[in-house]
Amino acid sequence: MRYFFRNLCNKFNMPTNTMKSSVPEHLKDSLTALAQTDLTAGIQRKFDNDNARVEKHSFQFRELYFDLSKTHISDPLVERYLEIAESQKIEQAREDFLSGDLINNTEQRSVLHTLLRDTENQGITMQQPVVLDQAQDARAQFTEQYKEIEQSLARRETPIKDIIHVGIGGSSLGTQLLYEALQVIGERRRIHFIGNIDAHQLVSVLDQCDVSSTLVIGVSKTFTTAETLQNLDSIANWFKSNGVDKPLDNFYGVTANPTQANQYGLASSNVVSFPVWVGGRYSVWSSVSLSAVLLLGKEKFDEFLEGAAEMDRHFYTAPLAKNVCFKAAMLDHYYANHMGVGAKAIFAYDYRFRSLVDYLQQLETESNGKDKQRDGHPVDQKTSMVVWGGVGTDVQHSVFQMLHQGTSIIPAEFILVKKPDHGLQEHHNELLANGIAQTAALLSGQTLETVKELHGDEGLSDEAMKAKVFSGDRPSMTIMLDKLSPSALGGLLAFYEHRVFFGGVLTNINSFDQMGVELGKRLAKKVRPLIDRGEANDTGFDASTEGLLKKLTEK
Ligand code: F6P
Repeated sequence: MRYFFRNLCNKFNMPTNTMKSSVPEHLKDSLTALAQTDLTAGIQRKFDNDNARVEKHSFQFRELYFDLSKTHISDPLVERYLEIAESQKIEQAREDFLSGDLINNTEQRSVLHTLLRDTENQGITMQQPVVLDQAQDARAQFTEQYKEIEQSLARRETPIKDIIHVGIGGSSLGTQLLYEALQVIGERRRIHFIGNIDAHQLVSVLDQCDVSSTLVIGVSKTFTTAETLQNLDSIANWFKSNGVDKPLDNFYGVTANPTQANQYGLASSNVVSFPVWVGGRYSVWSSVSLSAVLLLGKEKFDEFLEGAAEMDRHFYTAPLAKNVCFKAAMLDHYYANHMGVGAKAIFAYDYRFRSLVDYLQQLETESNGKDKQRDGHPVDQKTSMVVWGGVGTDVQHSVFQMLHQGTSIIPAEFILVKKPDHGLQEHHNELLANGIAQTAALLSGQTLETVKELHGDEGLSDEAMKAKVFSGDRPSMTIMLDKLSPSALGGLLAFYEHRVFFGGVLTNINSFDQMGVELGKRLAKKVRPLIDRGEANDTGFDASTEGLLKKLTEK
């Protein structure tokens, strides 16, 4: 009977009384009670009751300003989470991370990407000297190889106009964001990012390029990812069919598995490596960003690293009560676990951040979308929320309806950049006005009385009047950058990384593996030969999958 009960609990991810709970029960209960009060009282009342609310819950960190005051944050909430932090030994977990412990326990790896940006070895980490040496070597090696590549490109008869960066997930999203965010207007050279196996994208990119002026950079931590290898093969064939005998001379590989890149056919001189302790979705700080660094310059990249290192110092040294990464993680946890929130949204009011949501989606959901605790027991709380969003003001004209008047609470994050890098100030003022207005509208809502005041003489029906009522009290957080500088970008991304880290510790999961992506990949290998051979009978798959295969393969 007990065995049956446990199996049932495991299946539905329910706690049994022998399971280790990551948050003490009395604190869970107390947070649930606080959430009830918070939901009833709302956020506006918190402003009414406290003149110093903004001051208390905002935070200026170098070029970044964080305003958390429009969320449900409060002193009692912070107090409870500090208790959880103590019971969860969160400070110890942070030290374990920075000391190089094998915190990625399922893969028996340390997580040390922060070392790549500790360029001045300021000692925020307490690594073993050997690891510090490795990190220094990795940085020095990248600098050297980058210079060599730059020089060899300068010697080319035809200058490079197009770089095709081939890589997927962590081997592309960060580099694309870095490039788009810091790209200089007027730069004529371009980077095309190819991740997807869908050749509609590849074919359209190749159509814009010429073999004489195209460089290919294949990025893959493992150098075994099917999409990346097939895209590289097809590009090599394109070179060949355009008269280039040795296409791989125009290819560089960036990887933590140089042997595999050599086996693929790349000469060692064309392989740039990075250490295995840099996780894919944490690799923007490494040579994975080669393509962007070639166009943006190493100086900007170093500033980007430095900005992140500053945030690392805050993450590491600030007490949790004043730690912006912890407070944001705490709010995520509170919303997901005590307010029934399933999704949060990120809206960047800056076109240069058009890839930010994709990047953060991978960072958060691949890290914390887990259902097992570190010791293998089922998780007894909600882990990663759905992360979605877009770019303002576009999204205002599509999804904001639901944000304001939908039946689910969706905490929203607004990212604003104070100074633009163009001269059309009027556009920028309008953009910022919209972003700020949205945060105000989500908070205040609009009562029926206000609707009547504003529209009373327009002859509107009762229903139309009621439809214009907004409940308000919808939480939002605003992050404002002085400028989209390399260091501000570095600081911003490091903030999100550390927030995800704290989120993982709060729920007692391993944020650094990604087992959930493996099954689909394995089954694709079984499905592929069936499609190639046009077979759809007795496949061993479920009836729906077999039905799909039949549809696909019927003549
Ligand atoms: O399938 C998930 C994943 O392993 C990601 O974690 C990673 O960023 C991506 O695939 C690409 O992997 P690789 O860099 O080894 O090609």
